[in-house]
Amino acid sequence: MNNSITILSPGTVANMVCGFDVLGFALYDPCDEMELRLLPERRVVIQPDPVYQLPTEPEKNVAGAALLALLDAVEGPVGFDLTIRKHIKPGSGIGSSAASAAGAVVAANHLLGNRFSNEELVQFAMFGEKVASGVKHADNIAPCIYGGITLIRSIHPLDIVALPAPDLHVSIVHPQIEVRTADARAILKQNILLKDAIKQWGNIAGLVAGILQNDLALIGRSLQDHIIEPVRSILIPGFDELKQRCLAAGALGGGISGSGPSVFMLSATETTAQQVAAEMAAVFTRLGIDFHTYVTRINQQGVILKSENPT
Ligand code: HSE
Repeated sequence: MNNSITILSPGTVANMVCGFDVLGFALYDPCDEMELRLLPERRVVIQPDPVYQLPTEPEKNVAGAALLALLDAVEGPVGFDLTIRKHIKPGSGIGSSAASAAGAVVAANHLLGNRFSNEELVQFAMFGEKVASGVKHADNIAPCIYGGITLIRSIHPLDIVALPAPDLHVSIVHPQIEVRTADARAILKQNILLKDAIKQWGNIAGLVAGILQNDLALIGRSLQDHIIEPVRSILIPGFDELKQRCLAAGALGGGISGSGPSVFMLSATETTAQQVAAEMAAVFTRLGIDFHTYVTRINQQGVILKSENPT
């Protein structure tokens, strides 16, 4: 039996523009690296992160809360000691909390002989999202665990559909400004107009059809959001210019990554994705805002096992 495991837990892009709280996809870069060790007693220990001041009390830590939920479903003298080396900055909009929560439960499941299904792991990891943003949304957690693109058809009861993701290239810019998910949710309107809902469900259906048919033009023209983006984009300086320049550079489409402030774009080729990232960099350089860009691909695997260490 292995008593320690090291995994890479990927960043994720939630919403995919029109699919607020229901669509998301995983990335190859950035990833958190996590080492989980089995303990012979019922407790969860979170080692302090050297870079970020994250809580180490398990019930206040997103990975800790997820591990405690999993431990509730396990009998016997077993516990976990977790070390996370975070490369996904908290508050970036690239699924930092989901990577911690999902990575922890996937690692724990490996060490316990893979007794839980992916759907059960999503249920445990959602306790971490509740700690992070007050809401148990699964649109970052599910792609992190399943890989590729996932659709959360329903949360109650949980109904996850893994979609066959096209091999698309992703450009991401993370401007170094703070947008808290809780704040980005609090500003949203609670009521929407029927005419906006009609456009939105046309786009969600078009996006899913485009994904299933590998129709990149349909994916591109479905990446439009008439409900969330008009409200949230005011939190991201230069958003409209950024989007226009990325589309002019050949991106299929894109928008706010999760609750922001990161912005993502999908492209058919790596060359275009690099040009799009250069446009992103140019906008934030002109605005005098520090930023980080990533050029990566949709991650078809989700959490990646790096090494297992036997007793
Ligand atoms: N669907 C969530 C939101 C994702 O947009 O608030 C948060 O990362």
